Amino acid sequence: MYQNNAQKFYRVLDGLERDPQVCRMKQFTQHKGNPTFWHCHNVAVASFRLAQKLGWRIDEVALARGAMLHDFHLYTREKKNMRHLFEHPRLALRNAEQTFTLSGKEKNIIASHMWPLTVFAVPRSKEAVLVTLADKYCAFREMRGHRRVG
Ligand SMILES: [Fe+2]
Ligand SMILES: [Fe+2]
Repeated sequence: MYQNNAQKFYRVLDGLERDPQVCRMKQFTQHKGNPTFWHCHNVAVASFRLAQKLGWRIDEVALARGAMLHDFHLYTREKKNMRHLFEHPRLALRNAEQTFTLSGKEKNIIASHMWPLTVFAVPRSKEAVLVTLADKYCAFREMRGHRRVG
């Protein structure tokens, strides 16, 4: 079964997690008070692990960047805010584009992570599919009090 380059993935993820702009996500929370920073970290780790489990050959750089920035919206999510559900991928993408130079694949990972809720923002790569799945899995776990993986 194909094994992706874990060293490369974690090197890119680690670099992003040291970025002062990315670290701003530590100030904001979602999913039962879990900082958005750690939610994004969890989603990145879970999506990479899922790729390894499925034996999917992925682009380690795009997956690490897209997953870590998927909720880069820099505000604390209020409970029961339906607009947030539909609009935050666009806000996250706008912040990410203002801060980093992103590939088309990375942009789509961020924009489509709430699919199928965001009907027209469809995941267009294996990396984007992994992030939509890992996001739902991690949100569920975090709602049950889980904080951080990996
Ligand atoms: Fe999100
Ligand atoms: Fe998320």
